[in-house]
Amino acid sequence: MLINQRKKFSLPAKSTYLNCAYMSPLLKSVEKAGIVGIASKKNPAMIKPADFFIGADQLRSEFAKLINVKDKKQIAIIPSASYGLANAAKNLKMNRGENLIIAAEQFPSNVYTWMNLATETGATIKTISPPSSFADRGKIWNERILEAIDTNTRLVALGHVHWADGTKFDLAQIRKRSREVGALLIIDGTQSVGALPFDVQAIQPDVLVCGGYKWLLGPYSMGLAYYGNYFDQGQPIEENWITRKNSEDFSGLVNYEENYQPGALRYDVGERSNFILVPMMTAALKQINQWKPERIQQYCRKISALSINKLREAGYWVEDEKHRGHHLFGVRLPQHKVIQEVRAKLKKNNISVSVRGNALRVAPYLYNSESDLIKMVKVLTT
Ligand SMILES: Cc1ncc(COP(=O)(O)O)c(C=O)c1O
Repeated sequence: MLINQRKKFSLPAKSTYLNCAYMSPLLKSVEKAGIVGIASKKNPAMIKPADFFIGADQLRSEFAKLINVKDKKQIAIIPSASYGLANAAKNLKMNRGENLIIAAEQFPSNVYTWMNLATETGATIKTISPPSSFADRGKIWNERILEAIDTNTRLVALGHVHWADGTKFDLAQIRKRSREVGALLIIDGTQSVGALPFDVQAIQPDVLVCGGYKWLLGPYSMGLAYYGNYFDQGQPIEENWITRKNSEDFSGLVNYEENYQPGALRYDVGERSNFILVPMMTAALKQINQWKPERIQQYCRKISALSINKLREAGYWVEDEKHRGHHLFGVRLPQHKVIQEVRAKLKKNNISVSVRGNALRVAPYLYNSESDLIKMVKVLTT
């Protein structure tokens, strides 16, 4: 069992930060890697052609390890989840009469992409809502998604957990059903990968995209994606010199090359060798791979269990633990509470959580302790 890791971060002593789903604080090791990266450009003569490849390769290896991918060439370096999704959408063919499936109130980057694709192709978006009552909400929502997949479905695009309330989607079942009808499965792992185990070999998604600045503990404007073999021959949304075959040979760059680097490397963003962000992201993933997502879940479960019981006793609603993440969960207010007042009270007490719709989104991590959550409960129940 992991112990509290607050000393590895630089959070102010008085801050009760329960908001990693908004943005993670910086690990000291990641900060250090960034500073070394900044300094490296003081003397560009020290930056060798091989450095454009070595850092990116190490980063791919760490991410491949985290999500259990055998071939790191299936990993692309992206600046945002939307960028990774745009690469996927560019290579999808859909026809009028076909449909794609998303969950209700999904994060916009994983909606607008599909709205455009639907407009361009005449395909239909099926948006699957949860039930209006809280009884078995997560279970019924999952059942509805499975029922919605039909022989006209070409694509299912979901998070592993819902970004606003942590509802967990049963990706194994959704993969099974989507495969039966020949539909692709595209996962936005931004609110889960790093903190919740994700195994590419077990789930076999076609695409996984992750913004890096939340549960991957990375800097902003840096993310990672996995593309399965369906996309191996695809066309990227931009053309960059380094994603072409033989780009390692700097003296031959104007021997314009028709072919791309293998696998998903063609989907890397331009200037993907970023000498500041890449070492930062790599340092973050090294730490996460040492901690391990299953142990992060265990830790978050342990520090939140008592508080969730207390909240339920006070009339708040939290999803059953089978159908949510331990690192991210929604807390719905009893009828007599007003969300704006609750929010102001939490802020006054230096407690950081997010308000998403009519619920609080609580997102603990290894720098939190049980007392942080109890402090939040006290504010919510008095
Ligand atoms: C589920 C999810 N996906 C993606 C993002 C970020 O998207 P992008 O990287 O496209 O800015 C967020 C940010 O809150 C999110 O919650």
